[in-house]
Amino acid sequence: MEDLKQQAGERAAELVTDGMKVGLGTGSTVHYTLLALGRRVQEEGLDIVGVPTSVRTERTSLEVGIPLGDLDELGRLDITIDGADEVDPHLNLIKGLGGALVREKIVAAHTRELVIIVDSSKMVEVLGTRSPLPVEVFQMGHKRLHSALADLGCAPALRMDDDGSPFVSDNGNHIYDCRFERIPRPHDLEMEINNVIGVVQNGLFLDMATRVVVASASGVFIKRR
Ligand code: A5P
Repeated sequence: MEDLKQQAGERAAELVTDGMKVGLGTGSTVHYTLLALGRRVQEEGLDIVGVPTSVRTERTSLEVGIPLGDLDELGRLDITIDGADEVDPHLNLIKGLGGALVREKIVAAHTRELVIIVDSSKMVEVLGTRSPLPVEVFQMGHKRLHSALADLGCAPALRMDDDGSPFVSDNGNHIYDCRFERIPRPHDLEMEINNVIGVVQNGLFLDMATRVVVASASGVFIKRR
């Protein structure tokens, strides 16, 4: 599995060229992209500026020598490379098991090309069948949101840290992991969830991905929208 993540991550790094403004996703697959981009910056003098989607990615990017910039200063990005938890046949996604979904969605919304990197186990026919849907919520009154989310047809679970306290995102919020049996109408659900007062954003990334790099036992292939 680790080998497949590495193949997908490194293949996506090859799509980056000189002068690009690059959104840098979060997660264990993107980690390999960051390492590869860092090597290209050091060895080839690749001239890029990155926008990280989490504190973790910011730290790794700085360690490997990727120059970083600010989304507000840079404007529209050329390419963003990020992982996902599920990918359906329309290249719609569930993201956020790594806890960075809000910044990832902001960066994805301001990029020309969103390249998703996954191993083949994350390809599904219908969203929600493999992964829970992460929903980031404000801390204030978050317990009141449990029933509102459950009313949408899922079993919501407050994400916990290893020490038994609620997980806190880079934005200071909590996350409910909402287990649906399946999500047949993701566009409707996205609006319904975001209409719940106290919800910051949910992990449905719809009509955003332009390419998906899939690493499987038989090789790496690319799906385009
Ligand atoms: C981070 O919040 C997530 O959206 C990740 O991109 C997603 O969970 C995939 O992560 P892995 O590459 O670690 O599986």
